[in-house]
This record gives sequence, structure tokens and C-alpha cells, in this order.
Amino acid sequence: MDGTAPERSNDADFERARERHETLAAEITEHRRRYYLAEPTISDSQFDELFHELIDIETAHPELQSNDSPTQQVGTFSEAFTPVAHLEKMLSLQDVFSLEEVQAWADRITAEVPGEPYLCEVKIDGLAVDLVYEHGRLARAATRGDGTTGEDVSANVATIDAVPQRLKAAEGFDVPELLEVRGEVYFPTDEFDRLNESQVAAGKAPFANPRNAAAGSLRQKDPSKTAERPLSFIAHGLGALKGFEPQSQSHSYAALEAWGLPTSPYWRVVDTIDEVFAYIHEFGEQRHSLVHEIDGVVVKIDRLGTQRRLGATSRVPRWAVAYKFAPEEVNTELLDIKVSIGRTGRATPYAVLEPVRVAGSEVEFATLHNADQVKAKGVKIGDTVVVRKAGDVIPEVVAPVAAARDGSETDFVMPERCPECDSVLAPASEGDVDLRCPNARSCPGQLRERLAYLSGRSCFDVDRMGYIACSALVEPLDTDPVLVDEGGVFDLRIEDLLPIKVVVRDPDSGLPKIVEATGEPKVVTPFAKQPDKKTGEILPRKNAEEMLENLEKAKRQPLWRVINALSIRHVGPVAAQALAEHFGDLDRIAEADESAIAAVDGVGPTIAAAVKDWFAVDWHRAIVERWRAAGVRMQDDAPDPSELPPQTLEGLTVVITGGIPGYTREGAAAAVKARGGKTTSSVSKKTGAVVAGDKPGSKYDKALTLGVPIVRGEDFERFLADGLPPAEPEAESDSEASSVGSEPE
Ligand code: IVH
Repeated sequence: MDGTAPERSNDADFERARERHETLAAEITEHRRRYYLAEPTISDSQFDELFHELIDIETAHPELQSNDSPTQQVGTFSEAFTPVAHLEKMLSLQDVFSLEEVQAWADRITAEVPGEPYLCEVKIDGLAVDLVYEHGRLARAATRGDGTTGEDVSANVATIDAVPQRLKAAEGFDVPELLEVRGEVYFPTDEFDRLNESQVAAGKAPFANPRNAAAGSLRQKDPSKTAERPLSFIAHGLGALKGFEPQSQSHSYAALEAWGLPTSPYWRVVDTIDEVFAYIHEFGEQRHSLVHEIDGVVVKIDRLGTQRRLGATSRVPRWAVAYKFAPEEVNTELLDIKVSIGRTGRATPYAVLEPVRVAGSEVEFATLHNADQVKAKGVKIGDTVVVRKAGDVIPEVVAPVAAARDGSETDFVMPERCPECDSVLAPASEGDVDLRCPNARSCPGQLRERLAYLSGRSCFDVDRMGYIACSALVEPLDTDPVLVDEGGVFDLRIEDLLPIKVVVRDPDSGLPKIVEATGEPKVVTPFAKQPDKKTGEILPRKNAEEMLENLEKAKRQPLWRVINALSIRHVGPVAAQALAEHFGDLDRIAEADESAIAAVDGVGPTIAAAVKDWFAVDWHRAIVERWRAAGVRMQDDAPDPSELPPQTLEGLTVVITGGIPGYTREGAAAAVKARGGKTTSSVSKKTGAVVAGDKPGSKYDKALTLGVPIVRGEDFERFLADGLPPAEPEAESDSEASSVGSEPE
């Protein structure tokens, strides 16, 4: 290799970087413009990714960092409103995405100015505005624009109740001659769904998120339109000042509050970086339960003198950093809308998406619930859509990105026929929004889903009987189905299973999986190994034999699981337990009057009617008889009183929330029941005790508010053994004093 080769490859590298830089810079500028017009076509996290790629390129090649690079500018502005110069530049914030980066920021500060208190705040996902008060009167309100020049939105901001037209005089806080205050206009989360409903009803595209709704509302040409939107405001910073010299950001917040300018209820001044981390953690957990959306936490150096000393780059201050939460919303393509058939026949439209990572996992499908929901969300096939996965909930399509439409998108039409068996879909009853496949017994979709449910955790819990096995029993390739309904499931024999071939389906969507290399559906023999090459003998798989052994064991499952496994409409595990507990015997349920079933605690008329309807069908009763003949237990044995534990919780209603050490949720409930107690899921004044384990949540808060005795998770055993301790005398009692096991102070 000659000596010039490396240089040539460096040249090529640089050229590639320059080209990528140019493309990225143009894209980012365009996305900023769209964002600013409240019509973004990519999600915030996707924008962040582009922006950080640009920063990385400039770090590697500083010569590409020209003055007009997006990394050197704050934002953008349009000329739809009158331009106005800010008295002081409005800066942006440096984003970071890990606690290590927050630590590195704090280390840099500490090296220069040790021991500075931090002010932690939530990062409100709204729209930045700049308010100028002259002698206490709101003289002007402007958007951020490019940070130097914004747009005059005074008339629109004047319609926001939270922004005072005049500052209130307050003791100790003289109204200053000049006050430039920065803050966020936001759209309250609980109003957002209502706004989108009315947008769709008016034939307009819904907003993708509350931030777009805030921006869209504030940028109305007609301020009376803005006035119709419930916008609010929170101040989070200062610009030019005359006659006001606060020592710290927190001190300035006290003054702003006194003058009638709302500040966040969530800010906190702390001394250590560990407390900053704790704040980040705390608000990460609560991010969806605040009055506005947040997309992170802002950490600032509280003392204004130190802020001045640390200064700023052209774009961001050195004295603050924004920790951004992991994205839970991303944009992707809605490739198609298909319909799946559930175990009770319900036809559910679902979105087929260009696969995308959201909140740590890849999402390819998302439910759309029913045809009315598709309409309500205003999504069309071919749209770019916002997909969301909040916490551990299933992914959902939030809204279309109307700004990304090119006219090729098509409306979804709910099919008239079942995609699995071609029966005509119909509502189960008049006025029902859901369509159903009426072919309950032999629609392969319904039966496949019923079998998968029956073998699942809340029914017979048959290990090794997964989705592929269920599918194989119902819709084998080239052979007749082994099962025409679930009646024969306990009579399966290995020799019937061995020849079965089946197309592998995706459990989330029911769609066949395609082998990439061939483009053909993937076919397997789920119960048999490949035939022996020499003898041609077909041998069972170990999994298949285990499945049959597990089915054998499953015949001993308690009655509530058997009831749940019948896939009776409206009857899930909770109703099944209530029925089992009350009647103790499946035949008694089948024979009971509808009114007697409805009277069972936790059941009610809808479930009672569904139970009666179910047992009125011949082939349903035949299932029960085949299961009985196969040895499935149809009643619970009455417990032997001499074996019962002491009835320490007799008559007590208990709510269990959070994880209890050493118990599953079901196990903890069973332990309470075995001692004469009853478990329910919601806390009321009538609740006897709340057992609050690990991460207890809102039920714990409600128990505190209502004064319901709280048992700590680690005291659960003692509670089972001894019941509740006697109530403390009124004057000394508080939530802690009424906890089991807590010692008097
Ligand atoms: S301080 C120089 N505090 O986030 C410091 N900004 O991504 C400027 N934002 O332009 C901002 N909540 O519009 C600050 N508690 C908060 C904030 C906040 C939201 C916005 C603000 C800023 C943008 C930067």
C-alpha cells in the first residue's frame, strides 16, 4: 500500500461527512420550521437523533460547524405574525439522555464553582413564550422564534387566564419597572382528548399531542379562536429586568408567584447530585399523572450570580441541563389496517406498522379497538402516525401526522365478512359498536384464540401449549382439524398430533409469518421431529409429550379456572372466581336462575345473562360433558374446617396494592380469603385495610386520605396471623400509627 492511501481515505471520509452534514442541516432546518408551525412530521426523539448525529459530525470535523449550522441556532420563526426583538436572547437547553451525562455536567460545574445548590424542575412540553411587563402591565407577548426575534402573539396570549394583564402588588415584592419573563404555554392533558374529539367531529385532523395543540391554539390568526382553547402558562425564567434583583432563581419564583405569575408546583432546590437523581426518578415515574405533559427534567444552578459567571454558548446556557426521558412516542408509517377475530368473535381493527422501537421494544402492530375508534382517531392507511407506549401498556396509535399527508392515503373500510371464515359480521345486539363473527364454534380464528386463552396462565395453565400448537390443532395444513371445538382438548393423543403441519402465525396479529429468503409462509411440524432419515419413522417432540402430560395435570385445576376457560362473554378471572366461590359446582351454575347469578357479589345482570346464554347452546354443554368425561374437575371441594387457618380476618374487606414479599398477587389474596377476609380492588370508606407492598400507587394515597388502616407489605404475615391491631386513640392516630407492626413513638 503506498503512503498516500490513508490520506485518500481521509478525504473520502471527510467528503462523506460533509455530504451527510449538509443533508442533516437542511433536514433539521425544515423540521424546525414544521415544528414551529405546529405541524411536525417527525417525533421529538427522532428530531433529537438527527440533531445529535449533526453534533457528532461537527465534533469529529469542527470545520463543518459554520455559523448558520442548526447547532449554532436556537430555532426558527415565521413571518405570519409581526416580528419582535426579545430584550434578551432566549436560549435553548442542552439535552442529555443519561444520568451519567447529568453527572458529567455537574462535575464540570463543581470543578469551577463547588457546593452550588441545584434547582430541579420538570420540563414542560409546551411552547416557549416571552412576556414583557412594563410598570406591571403586560406590554407584549412573543414566541421564541430564533431566540433573538420572535412573533408578537400579544392578542392571543391576552386570552390565557393564567397570564395576568397586570401584576399584583404584594408585600415585600415591589412591582418592577421592567420584567421580561419566560415560560411555557401548555395545553392541559385532561382537556386534550376533548379537543381532539371536537376536531374530528368538525372534520379536522386531530392534534398528535398536547404540545402541538398548544402551538396550534396559540398561533390562531383570530384570537377569539385561541380564547376557546383552555391554554395555561407556567413561568420558568427571566430576561431583562429593571427594579428587580433576585439572588436566585428560586427567590425570583417567589416574587413571580406574589405578582400573580404562575410557577410550577413541582420545582425543588437540592444540595446534592443524588437528590437531583432522586428528583429525576420521581418525576419519571409520575410523568403521565401531572396536569401537563413533560418530556424531561431541567436542572439549573439556583444562584443567579453563579449563572452569570458560568455564562452560555450561542445556543444554550452552561448553568442548566435538560435530562430527557426515554421516548414513549415515535412516528412511523401505518402500512395497513387489518381486522383480527378474538376468542368471543369480536372483530378488532389493528394497525400494521412499519416496525419501530418504542420505549425499549419493537412495535409492529397496535390495536385500533373498533371501526368507530379508527374514525375518531382520524387515521388513514398510508398515514405517518404517532405510536405511543406509556409505561408497560400495549402500544397504541395516538393520531395521524396530518402535515405529512400527500393525498395518497386511503380511508379504512370495515370489512363485512370475517377474515378467518368469511361469515357475515354483525353486531351482537342493537347499538353495539363492535362487530362479531357469528360462527362461534368453528371459525378457526375464534377457536384458535379460545384455545390459546384456555391453555394460558389464568385458565388451565398448560405449559408447552402455545400459540403455534393451538393454531395447529385448529387449522392444520393438508389434514383435517384435530379439534372442531375445545371439547376434545383433553382427549388428544400423540398419534393424532404427529402428522400435523401448520403455518406459523404471529400471536399479536394472527398473521402468518413469512420466511424472508423464500417469501413463503413459514411451515412447521409442531408435534413431531423431522422423520428419521433411515427408517422414515416419525417421532414425537419432547414438547408435545410434555404438553399432553400438562393437559393431564390441568384436569385438577380449581373450578374458577375451568369457568374462565369456557370463554363466556364478559366472564374473566374475577367473575369466574366469584361464581366458583358462590356456587362451588359448574352444574349448579348451569342450573341457576339468571337472577340468582346476578345476585352474586361481583357478578351482576350483564354477566348473568351471558352465562345463561352460554349454557343455552347445545355444543357449549357438550364441551362441558366431554371435559367431565375426560376427568376435568367440575367442583371445588369444600374446605375441611379443621384444616382452615384461624379466621383472623373474618368479615374484613382488604385491598392489596403493590408487590408483597414472598407472595404472588393471587397467593396474597388467597391467604386473605383463607382467613375469612374478602379482597376487592378499589379503596373506599368501607375498606377494612389496605396492604401496601412495594410501589403501592394511588390506592395507598386514597387509603391515607380516607383514613383506612394501612398494612405494610413486610407486616403481611403478622396481619394474617393476628388480624388488624386495635385502633389507636384518635389524638395520636395517623396513617403510620395504624399500620400493623409499627411501634408507638
Ligand atoms: S429554562 C436558558 N425550564 O424547553 C434556559 N425551559 O428545550 C431556558 N422548557 O426553550 C429554559 N420547561 O421552552 C426551562 N422548566 C423549564 C422548562 C423549559 C420547558 C422549554 C423552554 C426551552 C426548551 C428547551
